[in-house]
Amino acid sequence: MNALELSPEEFRRLADRITALAEQWLVTLDSRRIAPALTGADTEASFAEGLPEVGLKEAALDSLPLLLEGARAGNARFLGYVLGSGEPVGALGDFLASVLNQNITAWRSSPAAVSLERAVVRGLATAVGCPGFSGSLTGGGSAANLMGLAMAREAHAPANENGSPSGVVYASTEAHMSIAKAVALLGLGRRNLRLIPTDSQWRMRPDALEQAIAKDVAAGRRPLAVVATAGTVNTGAVDPLPALAELATRHGLWLHVDGAFGVPAAMALPELFTGLERADSLSMDAHKWLYQPVDCGVLLFRDAIAARRAFSFSGDYVRVMSSDSVEGFAFFDESIELSRRFRALKLWLSMRYHGLAAFREAIHRDLQNARRLAEAVEAEASLELLAPVSLSAVCFRYAGAVPEAERDAFNAGLLTRLNARGRVYLSNATISGRFALRACFVNHRTTPEDVRQVVEEVLAAAKDL
Ligand SMILES: Cc1ncc(COP(=O)(O)O)c(C=O)c1O
Repeated sequence: MNALELSPEEFRRLADRITALAEQWLVTLDSRRIAPALTGADTEASFAEGLPEVGLKEAALDSLPLLLEGARAGNARFLGYVLGSGEPVGALGDFLASVLNQNITAWRSSPAAVSLERAVVRGLATAVGCPGFSGSLTGGGSAANLMGLAMAREAHAPANENGSPSGVVYASTEAHMSIAKAVALLGLGRRNLRLIPTDSQWRMRPDALEQAIAKDVAAGRRPLAVVATAGTVNTGAVDPLPALAELATRHGLWLHVDGAFGVPAAMALPELFTGLERADSLSMDAHKWLYQPVDCGVLLFRDAIAARRAFSFSGDYVRVMSSDSVEGFAFFDESIELSRRFRALKLWLSMRYHGLAAFREAIHRDLQNARRLAEAVEAEASLELLAPVSLSAVCFRYAGAVPEAERDAFNAGLLTRLNARGRVYLSNATISGRFALRACFVNHRTTPEDVRQVVEEVLAAAKDL
């Protein structure tokens, strides 16, 4: 027998062991210490052995429990960054996607999977209030933002032909780092990214945007695109989409919305996202607030022709031999990627299993948990809320009797202590130059009791110091 072949019995045995381990993870997840009792050197040593010349067979699985010991995320009180919880039906979909191993390049190579992804994308677009948009699944928000801005560049300042793109991109000072990265990667030059000031709620100021555009036009530069953020990574602020859309239309600019974090919440709070449907392109991460296993980003766009202008470079060797609009469809004509994993399967399975209403409800619970934490912070004299809570990110700090000048250093130390205690995990943000503790609720497992523990643990960590 071929050395890489598995008998059906062997496959089943391995799958059963891995399923048992996955079940053990899910059952014990919330009671695990979030901070692993492992140092950097410990984790490196765990994998120092390297790759064997002769296969270990089933013994290869024996070290998998190590991964459980060294994992942090997923727990209901892991509230750092913007980290989705990994919905298990989605995980099973991911497993099957790898076994089926379809390469989602074009309908001709993988008919059912391509149609399934197109259907999932259409369904998501409708669910967030952008019916008629199409698009594709990406590795994440950074990739989707890069693709949205590549479309903007090709629409207004094509580099395909002359190779020297130019144009100015506008985003708020709160924009995610992936926007600056995209501008740089697209060859537009970092100096052509304008970071527009925000209002007291951390939303881009349309008046300041208007002034910046006028200044660039007066200087002979070419405005290219506005990037609105719908859910900033620091505070969850949603830029004023109708005003920004109006400005973009008036000045003939591309409107890209970075909704990697916030846009799934349009399913629960549609009024906060009015104007989203006026975007030319938008990103949203299903691996954040739709709880899917990483990776699962989404790029949506209004006009597929604009995507083709940016991404279609098909030579004869990949030309699809069909005039049928479905059978002739190729994702590589509308995406950076050629080989693409079957990301849509987890999302499709998870959303069909639970239904849209269950996702809406989970998002509502996260929103409530964030408000609950903000209220608890405001009710506790030694804590201070540092930003209004518009979605599910809460920024606050310990003040107590600590003098103002020492609060940054105190809270940085508090965060290290809090995370080392291992019951709650928060990350940090800089809010008006101040060091903030940041909790972000994008986890379907988090309960009001977990929120209570956040406050309890922050106060306990402060006491430790
Ligand atoms: C607003 C925003 N945009 C983009 C990203 C990048 O997304 P990804 O990590 O999926 O590349 C993030 C990540 O947190 C984000 O919060």
